[in-house]
Amino acid sequence: MKELKELNVGMIGYKFMGKAHSNAYAKVNMFFDADATVVRKAICGREESALREAAQRFGWRETETDWKRLASRKDIDIVDINAPSCFHKEMAIFAANEGKHVLCEKPLAFTTADAREIVEAAQKSGVRHQVGFNYRFAPAVQVIRQLITSGRLGKIYHFRGHYLQDFIIDPEFPKVWRLDKSVAGSGALGDLGAHVIDLARFLVGDVKRVSGISKTFISERPLPEGMTGLSGRASQDAPRAAVDVDDATSFIGEFECGALLQIEATRFAAGHKNNLSFEINGSKGSVRFSLERICELQYFDAGSDEGLQGFATISVTEGIHPYAGNWWPAGHVYGYEHTLVHEVYEFVQSVANGGAASPDFVDGLKCTQIMEAVDLSIARGAWVDVDSL
Ligand SMILES: NC(=O)c1ccc[n+]([C@@H]2O[C@H](COP(=O)([O-])OP(=O)(O)OC[C@H]3O[C@@H](n4cnc5c(N)ncnc54)[C@H](O)[C@@H]3O)[C@@H](O)[C@H]2O)c1
Repeated sequence: MKELKELNVGMIGYKFMGKAHSNAYAKVNMFFDADATVVRKAICGREESALREAAQRFGWRETETDWKRLASRKDIDIVDINAPSCFHKEMAIFAANEGKHVLCEKPLAFTTADAREIVEAAQKSGVRHQVGFNYRFAPAVQVIRQLITSGRLGKIYHFRGHYLQDFIIDPEFPKVWRLDKSVAGSGALGDLGAHVIDLARFLVGDVKRVSGISKTFISERPLPEGMTGLSGRASQDAPRAAVDVDDATSFIGEFECGALLQIEATRFAAGHKNNLSFEINGSKGSVRFSLERICELQYFDAGSDEGLQGFATISVTEGIHPYAGNWWPAGHVYGYEHTLVHEVYEFVQSVANGGAASPDFVDGLKCTQIMEAVDLSIARGAWVDVDSL
């Protein structure tokens, strides 16, 4: 067996994404022939007893209650940021300045200007940097990218995507941090739309201009007694506070390549728990993907025999994507968590071998730039050129 370099990870946050990333670090060396061994060295949160429990359950060796102390420890190689979005900028810049490689959850930043500062800090210190756009690493998405780059879909005309949830449809659902602009930065657009925007860029290319519309359907909600970003409790007589983020945002746009873009992000689509779907139409065919059927993609080949044409459902548990063969035998399905294991594998490889990570902070910046252009177009009631920001 080859001797592997050890990479010590320091992770901030231990709830939803903290758990998902911990699982990925636990699995990566078990399933992938990575060029470094990941050590779950230290996990960071503010509340000591809950943190100790998380460390034990998720397999972290040590705990830190101060993220700056974690990020400046000499024995930490990678800082993984899973705190709410308002902390990303300060944490990512601090960690990069400390010479740490940084994996940061999305959205990278609230504004294009902030995102540029983060990119500059990371580039100046020469560290590897990656943003948590995990859906790029769904096997079906990787196959779709291969279909597009090999020319199978021909010239691309349309990207049509949506990300639908319904977890806040009850007007009495409390104002958790995801509904607070000072913490989340943005509502459905920044939380859900960011993923679809990244997929659109990954698969079709950069976006030239956008025009959007958004709505906050429930303008006031009870304040929670305790919360994560997706759940909370409020007493019946809890004080209420204004919701200052979008409940739903839709926008249209144009890619640099001339294709048309249409994206909808909402938390008010009753019955949809986590439905990220998209369809791409080209001159030679179309593809469809839905996270609810993560192991499949649908492919229409316009060149197939007339009378026998139609969308074919293709299983991606085997075949041509880069992660095939690392998991179970063909037909033994993947889930959400596999996208994060793939994400972590790619980051570990880039740190171990010195290559650029992808999607990196520049991709995070470009996503933020598109979201800011959408917000500006809504405020102005006009088209906004993405490059104007
Ligand atoms: N890629 C994805 O699929 C995905 C999914 C959900 C969330 N996210 C992103 O991940 C981030 C976290 O979201 P979440 O749903 O895990 O949130 P969460 O509320 O479940 O967890 C947030 C964690 O951050 C910790 N934290 C908060 N302030 C801190 C501080 N000052 N110092 C140290 N720790 C602190 C909390 O203790 C908690 O452990 C957000 O930016 C969100 O946009 C990404």
